[in-house]
Amino acid sequence: MGPRMEVILRPTAEAAADLVARIIARELRANPHLVLGLATGRTMEAVYARLVRFHREEGLDFSLCSTFNLDEYVGLPPTDRHSFRHYMNHHLFLQVNIDLRNTHLPDGRAGDLEAECRAYEALIKRFGGIDLQLLGIGRSGHIGFNEPLSALQSRTRVKALSPVTVAQNAPLFGGEDQVPRRAITMGVGTILEARRCLLLATGEEKADLIARAVEGPITAMISATALQLHPRCTVVVDEAAAGRLRCTEYYRWIFENEPEWEPFRPPAGAA
Ligand code: GLP
Repeated sequence: MGPRMEVILRPTAEAAADLVARIIARELRANPHLVLGLATGRTMEAVYARLVRFHREEGLDFSLCSTFNLDEYVGLPPTDRHSFRHYMNHHLFLQVNIDLRNTHLPDGRAGDLEAECRAYEALIKRFGGIDLQLLGIGRSGHIGFNEPLSALQSRTRVKALSPVTVAQNAPLFGGEDQVPRRAITMGVGTILEARRCLLLATGEEKADLIARAVEGPITAMISATALQLHPRCTVVVDEAAAGRLRCTEYYRWIFENEPEWEPFRPPAGAA
């Protein structure tokens, strides 16, 4: 199979998260040394809950894999419950047999943030690059924290959060004035170097962004559109998030008929 972008529609948010978790599990079983790129956000909680279940019930083994998260807030210590390190420990790392020394996030408290960004890029390279990058999409159309006008070739750097993103996060922090204004994020160029990208979006409020990201023109205003340049990107959406896509019949046909998706198709009659 040559380079391609694919869209997979699942009936519900649960079924979409389940498919994403099964894609990750399959790649991890095929390569126990997998270098996994990870994302945070509410959407991902369902994916991590399933990976934890696969670990407990089916012995999915994380002991040899390593992870790199997309981003981290500037200024938050790892112990802060709003930090992405805390999120990852809570939802995944402490619930599976991963070696914490193999889990990486940018250090948002580094004295020299630019040096930290360069070191993060170098570390990803030292691990041979990211095999599979999991992605969500933020309200501003960002992947990672690549806010509007993120250069399509950008690398890991400090990025100011847009007002839309600050507003989106405000409820989690107890008010807009509590939200950090900056984050370290992998760049769009960094993400595009992952061997495979896997984007998950669920819910009606993502429908417009998904239509623009997948079927719209490539623009630095919506960093998710850059995934159209990626040789191997799978976008998984539930029916609600697929609501504004135009070519849904075509996407459905591919999932139902391409041999590659056979192991992931539910048995006839099941959801
Ligand atoms: C944050 C993260 C993004 C994530 C987004 C979506 O902004 N930096 O990587 O995609 O949240 O969050 P949610 O899943 O809660 O909609």
